[in-house]
Amino acid sequence: MTVVAASLVLLLGLALGGASSNNNSKLLAILNGSAPALDLLLHIDVLAGEMAPLSTAVGPLDLESVIRAEVNGDWERARLVLQLASQARTPELKHAIYEALWQELQQTKQIYDPLKLLEFHGQLTALSAVPPPLLANVYQTFVGRSAQLLAAPFHTASHSANFPLVSALLQRLTLSTLDYLRDILEALFDLVLALESTLSVVQRWGNLSASLTQLTLANLQLLKRPELQLDAAARTALQANLRQLLEQPAFEPDVDGTLRQQLYAQLPKDERILYTAQKVCLRNMTDGNAYIYECPQTYLICTNARDPKKAAYYVQRGHGGPNNTLQFAFYSAYWRNRYILLEPSNHSATGQQHITKNVYSRAAIDWWHVVQLAGGGVAIYDAATTRSVLCGGNPQHWDGEEKHVYTRNAQEFATNRRECAWSIEDCSDVS
Ligand SMILES: *[C@@H]1O[C@H](CO)[C@@H](O)[C@H](O)[C@H]1NC(C)=O
Ligand SMILES: *[C@@H]1O[C@H](CO)[C@@H](O)[C@H](O)[C@H]1NC(C)=O
Ligand SMILES: *[C@@H]1O[C@H](CO)[C@@H](O)[C@H](O)[C@H]1NC(C)=O
Ligand SMILES: *[C@@H]1O[C@H](CO)[C@@H](O)[C@H](O)[C@H]1NC(C)=O
Ligand SMILES: *[C@@H]1O[C@H](CO)[C@@H](O)[C@H](O)[C@H]1NC(C)=O
Ligand SMILES: *[C@@H]1O[C@H](CO)[C@@H](O)[C@H](O)[C@H]1NC(C)=O
Repeated sequence: MTVVAASLVLLLGLALGGASSNNNSKLLAILNGSAPALDLLLHIDVLAGEMAPLSTAVGPLDLESVIRAEVNGDWERARLVLQLASQARTPELKHAIYEALWQELQQTKQIYDPLKLLEFHGQLTALSAVPPPLLANVYQTFVGRSAQLLAAPFHTASHSANFPLVSALLQRLTLSTLDYLRDILEALFDLVLALESTLSVVQRWGNLSASLTQLTLANLQLLKRPELQLDAAARTALQANLRQLLEQPAFEPDVDGTLRQQLYAQLPKDERILYTAQKVCLRNMTDGNAYIYECPQTYLICTNARDPKKAAYYVQRGHGGPNNTLQFAFYSAYWRNRYILLEPSNHSATGQQHITKNVYSRAAIDWWHVVQLAGGGVAIYDAATTRSVLCGGNPQHWDGEEKHVYTRNAQEFATNRRECAWSIEDCSDVS
């Protein structure tokens, strides 16, 4: 029986494989049930299944020649073969066709095109009875080819070079699960970190045209690589990339909350609290009993004794100023209708004693530009001009119980750092 079946298959193979016309009716005829070949193949498959895995059996090898005739070097015809395969009556025959098709596609040039592979993987995923190892194999090939393509921009010094295929792939990937990108990035990092310096790879990620989500994921994933742990300069550059992302107006609306939280977690303490706390307090860096809130007697802002209720402010974020940069407003959680507001002053004069008391508790919203300082703490500038910086703590500028805060010319920050650096505390727990 086996001998008879095998020789019939051989004949079939010769008959079909020998014909070079790419008419899909051949495979269909085999599958259709009207052709005697169907019984034959099924029979072989059953026998093969008893003896060895499908891919090494006689049946599929022969199928390959049938499928080669169908595909004939034309990737698009794979879709047709998949359609035909769906008519196969047994899972074994389907498996055999899928595997033979994959063998065949690997002979074509299009195997280098990740988009083609992604599409094929999608088609296979939509089908029933695709052997998981085959699916995994197609997926791994897709990941590897994608990484190879995405590596191109990393091997050029020019940051303005345009890579249309890279852009097309990244664009297409925005439609797929982030897991695909995660796998591709890992393969990509293996490739590029072996050839380029860690710093240059990081800098490239600061300037690649991809979606904010993709850039966020890439930078966060890069941060976890062992290469980064060994390279302080690269880590600093990566922090700059993250901050650049954070400051995009579309960052909050476009990037998924979980991913955003992962980015916030990488920020220095003060800055992180600005994004993650429901309410914040602004405090003197060294004096744990000096918090910013409304003065006891006037509507000016003072540094007052610790009173977490009065000191708690809701943070609002927005974009504005001349460069449309990220800015913050502080809305009193205690008074519920007042912001910390700076009245304009031009701070043209500089000098140790030149301060302006122009910081009030007012109903109008007012925006501040907050800059994280390297050693901890923040500097708080007026967002409109960044020419004034918020300072306090010098008793010469106080008035009895009223320990006013004040502003200085922003250029004086460095020489008055103690007076003009603030700590941000999480005051969310205060009700
Ligand atoms: C392909 O098959 C169809 C029937 O499905 C037939 O009419 C046609 O002549 C065939 N073409 C070639 C080139 O064999
Ligand atoms: C498939 O089978 C049907 C009937 O069983 C027949 O009408 C049709 O022509 C067959 N198609 C091919 C391509 O063999
Ligand atoms: C980033 O790329 C843009 C062009 O896409 C270019 O204008 C800009 O100078 C680059 N920035 C850096 C830091 O290389
Ligand atoms: C800024 O200060 C200078 C000198 O102190 C003064 O001449 C000028 O009118 C001021 N401008 C504004 C807008 O207050
Ligand atoms: C806006 O950007 C320009 C150029 O980068 C810079 O010189 C200027 O200081 C910025 N202005 C503010 C208010 O940040
Ligand atoms: C913080 O407190 C110290 C000591 O009282 C003072 O010298 C400094 O100016 C204060 N800084 C701020 C920002 O209030």
